[in-house]
Amino acid sequence: MEKREMIYLDNAATSFPKPYAVSDAVKKYMLYCGGNAGRGGYESAIQAGRLVYECREKLSEFFGAKSAEAVFFTMNTTQSINACIRGSLKKGDRVLISNIEHNAVYRPIYKLSSKGQIDYDTFSVIENGVAVSQEEIIADIEKKVTKNTTMIVCTAASNICSVRTPIREIGELCRSRGIRFVVDAAQAAGHFPLSVEDMKIDALCVPAHKGLLGPQGCGAVLLGEGVKMQTVCEGGNGVDSLSGEMSEDPPERYEAGTLPLPAIAGFGEGIEVVKEIGLERIEAHEAALFKRAREELLNIGGVKIFCPESEGSVILFEIEGKGSEEVAAELAKAGICVRGGYHCAALAHKAMGTEESGAVRASFGIFNKESDVDALCDAVRKISK
Ligand code: ALA
Repeated sequence: MEKREMIYLDNAATSFPKPYAVSDAVKKYMLYCGGNAGRGGYESAIQAGRLVYECREKLSEFFGAKSAEAVFFTMNTTQSINACIRGSLKKGDRVLISNIEHNAVYRPIYKLSSKGQIDYDTFSVIENGVAVSQEEIIADIEKKVTKNTTMIVCTAASNICSVRTPIREIGELCRSRGIRFVVDAAQAAGHFPLSVEDMKIDALCVPAHKGLLGPQGCGAVLLGEGVKMQTVCEGGNGVDSLSGEMSEDPPERYEAGTLPLPAIAGFGEGIEVVKEIGLERIEAHEAALFKRAREELLNIGGVKIFCPESEGSVILFEIEGKGSEEVAAELAKAGICVRGGYHCAALAHKAMGTEESGAVRASFGIFNKESDVDALCDAVRKISK
């Protein structure tokens, strides 16, 4: 692989570049540690265990969870979400999800529902391409909660546009009704503040490799106080090894098999970098890039922006008469990395009214510059002619 000149605007898929502190930590683990956490009493195994614990602590502190023990690791956000959905639901339960969910939420729910185990409904966050107000979202949820509703799963921020959901308010509603609240923070973690305890979240699912600037191959769940689930994967975890059952206590209860230690090493450093830069600064920087892109793109004939009023890190657009994949391919030829098509988000594209041809998504990160936005807009101008 070679270093390549590119303008990277696909941070919603995975963030790039990664800070040197992250890649150095991965390398350091691989070169100088190498032990397996919880699987030995020798120095490098102890060091690996410490690395894991420190990353749990960093996550717990960053996302306002009660303790490091509330944090368990997975391979990615999708596995985090699956662990919470499948580990919590029982036959006859009803689930509410938003109408802008990624397939990471939609598909496990759809599968359980199509097997007749649960039923589900959606509440609107975007309707006919327009963002719904916070009050209307809550009213819609209130209307759809029944006595069998045991869980709400929703994303904190869409992966196709900058629309966010009112997590705090949904958390309050869930807590007052005894409903388990699972949050997909794939596009939120490291972009704007979230707090497990303050926002009454029962399970917050986060990736290492997006806004938290870490490597691929690792995700986490941060559990609310007292939240317990069934396990969905069983195996060795270095605890209670003589028992046929997974141990009762988190976090190891939910961690079967060897953890992705190099990724965890980088994950911890990614959080440190985000903390150093500051979430407020990150949020403001991404919003400023969004605003610049919106203003420039709106001036180009034939360009339509979806949900332009919601400022954040993701902008979705189309060029009249051109397919979204075609536009993304033309931008790629100009060295600009964006994603066209459906972004694994069937529900969200339906709500946006883009289910026919998808749309082009540019997603910004803390390392993007104004000149990246200008390059995107210049290239779009040329393509649209
Ligand atoms: N979920 C990621 C995206 O939206 C991969 O592109």
